[in-house]
Amino acid sequence: MNQIFAFVLVLGFLSSTFCLDYIQRFGEFNKESVEKFMNQTLDHFDPQNNKTFIQRYYINDTYWTSSDKPIILYIAGEAPCEGTPTGFIEKIAQDNNALILALEHRYYGKSIPFTSTETHNLQYLTVEQALEDLASFIVYFQNSINELTGTFVQNAWFTIGGSYAGALSAWFRLKYPHLTRGSLSSSGVVNPVLNFIQFDEQIATATAGDCATALRLNTELIDTELEASPERNAAVKEKFNATTLNDGDFRYYIADAGALPVQYSNKEILCDPMINALKNNLSIIDTFKDYAMSFFLNNMSSPAYLYSNWFMKITTIDPDSRLFAQRIWWYQKCSQLAYFQNAPPTNPIRSPKITMEWHREKCADVFEMNLFPDTEAIITEFGSNKIDATNVFFSQGGQDPWQWAGVRETLSSLEPAHIIQGNDMGHCIDLHQPTANDPPDLVATRAEESQYIATWISTPN
Ligand SMILES: *[C@@H]1O[C@H](CO)[C@@H](O)[C@H](O)[C@H]1NC(C)=O
Ligand SMILES: *[C@@H]1O[C@H](CO)[C@@H](O)[C@H](O)[C@H]1NC(C)=O
Ligand SMILES: *[C@@H]1O[C@H](CO)[C@@H](O)[C@H](O)[C@H]1NC(C)=O
Ligand SMILES: *[C@@H]1O[C@H](CO)[C@@H](O)[C@H](O)[C@H]1NC(C)=O
Ligand SMILES: *[C@@H]1O[C@H](CO)[C@@H](O)[C@H](O)[C@H]1NC(C)=O
Ligand SMILES: *[C@@H]1O[C@H](CO)[C@@H](O)[C@H](O)[C@H]1NC(C)=O
Repeated sequence: MNQIFAFVLVLGFLSSTFCLDYIQRFGEFNKESVEKFMNQTLDHFDPQNNKTFIQRYYINDTYWTSSDKPIILYIAGEAPCEGTPTGFIEKIAQDNNALILALEHRYYGKSIPFTSTETHNLQYLTVEQALEDLASFIVYFQNSINELTGTFVQNAWFTIGGSYAGALSAWFRLKYPHLTRGSLSSSGVVNPVLNFIQFDEQIATATAGDCATALRLNTELIDTELEASPERNAAVKEKFNATTLNDGDFRYYIADAGALPVQYSNKEILCDPMINALKNNLSIIDTFKDYAMSFFLNNMSSPAYLYSNWFMKITTIDPDSRLFAQRIWWYQKCSQLAYFQNAPPTNPIRSPKITMEWHREKCADVFEMNLFPDTEAIITEFGSNKIDATNVFFSQGGQDPWQWAGVRETLSSLEPAHIIQGNDMGHCIDLHQPTANDPPDLVATRAEESQYIATWISTPN
C-alpha cells in the first residue's frame, strides 16, 4: 500500500473526483515497457483535413509467446499514460500469453496535438475522435505485425479500461465489434449523468452514521465561516492554504476532499478522525483540515489550487505535469460528459451551493465561452447503461459513488455485470494488484472476469 502511495506521490496528481484514470492514482505503470509513437489522424471526420499528431503508446511482450497470440489493449483515460499497466491486467496478459499495449488518450501526456491547450485547440477532443484513435491504432498495429511476419491475420484483441476509459472500452466494443473479441469495463461510466446527485448520496450511504454526521457538520461550519465576514472567510481558506480560491471552488474542493477517500477505498483515513472529533468535542474543521493537508494533499496529491479557475485556465503544455490534465478533463465534462456532482436536494454531504448553476458558470469561466454538455446526444449514441453490445464485462465497486453512472445489472448473457461486495470496495478495485487481504467477492469477481476473458478471446468473431 505504501509503495503504491509513494508512487502516486512521485508522479503528483490531480483530483480524481474528476474520475481520474485509476492507474494514475492507485495502480502502477510498468516502467520497463517500451515507449512508442504513431502518426494519428487529427480529425477522423473531416476528409478535407489531413493533419496528424503524434500519439504515444507502450508495449510489453514479456508474456507473448508467439505473434499469433492475443493482444490486450489497455485504454488509458484522462491522464498521462506512462507505461503498460501492472496488477490484475498484467495477470490477464500472463494467463492468455498476450501482448500488452497501452494507448495514451489524445490531449493527455505526450499526445497533445497543439502547442497550447487554448479552448479553440480543444475542438478535436471528443469521445468519438478518441474511439476512432483506438480503431486506427489497432489497424495500424495489426498491419505492422503482419508486415513483420508476412501474414494476413487478425489477432484476438481485447480492450480493458477503468472509469472513463472503462466507458470507452464498452463503447469501443459497441462501435467496432469486428476489431476486438471483447471488453472489460471496470467502473465504466457509460451513463453521462447531467445532474449527478447520486454521487453525493452514495458518499452519504458509504459513511452512514457518525462519519456522515461529522462530514455534514463540517460542511455547515465551513459554509458559516464563508458567509460570516470577509475576515472569517479569509481565515477558513487560509487554514487549507486555499486563499486564491473563490467560495464556489473552495466548496467544491472541500466536497472532493470528503468524497475521494470513499471513492478510492480509504474511507477510514477520513472517517476515523472525524468520528473521534465528533465524540470528543474536538474542532471538526481543524480535524478535516488536518486530513486535507496531509493525506489528501500529499498521498492523493490534491493541493487546493487545482480547483481554482486561475490554475484551470493555464494553457501551457508540460507533458510531465499531470496537474494540467485537470483542465483537459474538465473540458470533456463541460463539452460532452458532465457527471456534474451537484448537491442532492435533501440532506447533502456537500454544500447545497454546489449546483448546476455553479457548474454552468465554472465551464463558462474556465473555457471563456458558453460551453455546456449535451449529454442526451451521448446517451442516444451509445445507449447509456442499457448499451446493447456483446462480450462486455461490467464491474462496479459496491462503495463507489461512480457506480451510479455505470451498468449495475446484467444486461444479457453477453453483457454480465457484477457489483463487488465487501468493505471499502471503491473505484476500479478489481484492476488493483490482487492481495491476500482481498474480500471473497473481489477474488470471485476477478476469477469470473478471467473466465469470461479467456472464453471470449478464444471465440472468433
Ligand atoms: C515487461 O514486463 C515484465 C513483467 O513486468 C518486465 O519484467 C519486463 O522488463 C517488461 N519489459 C519488457 C521490455 O518486456
Ligand atoms: C510521422 O510522419 C512523418 C511524415 O511522414 C514522419 O517523418 C515521422 O517519422 C512519422 N512519425 C512517426 C512516429 O511515425
Ligand atoms: C494536406 O493538404 C494540403 C492542402 O489542403 C496539401 O497542400 C498537403 O500536401 C496535404 N498533405 C498531405 C501529407 O497530404
Ligand atoms: C500553498 O499553496 C501555494 C500555491 O497556491 C504553494 O505554492 C505553497 O507551497 C503551498 N504551501 C503549503 C504549505 O502547502
Ligand atoms: C465543546 O467544546 C466547546 C468549545 O471548544 C465548548 O464551548 C463546549 O462546552 C464543549 N462541549 C462539551 C459537551 O464539552
Ligand atoms: C502517505 O504518504 C506518506 C509519505 O509517502 C506515507 O509515509 C504514508 O504511509 C502514507 N499514508 C497512507 C495512509 O498510506
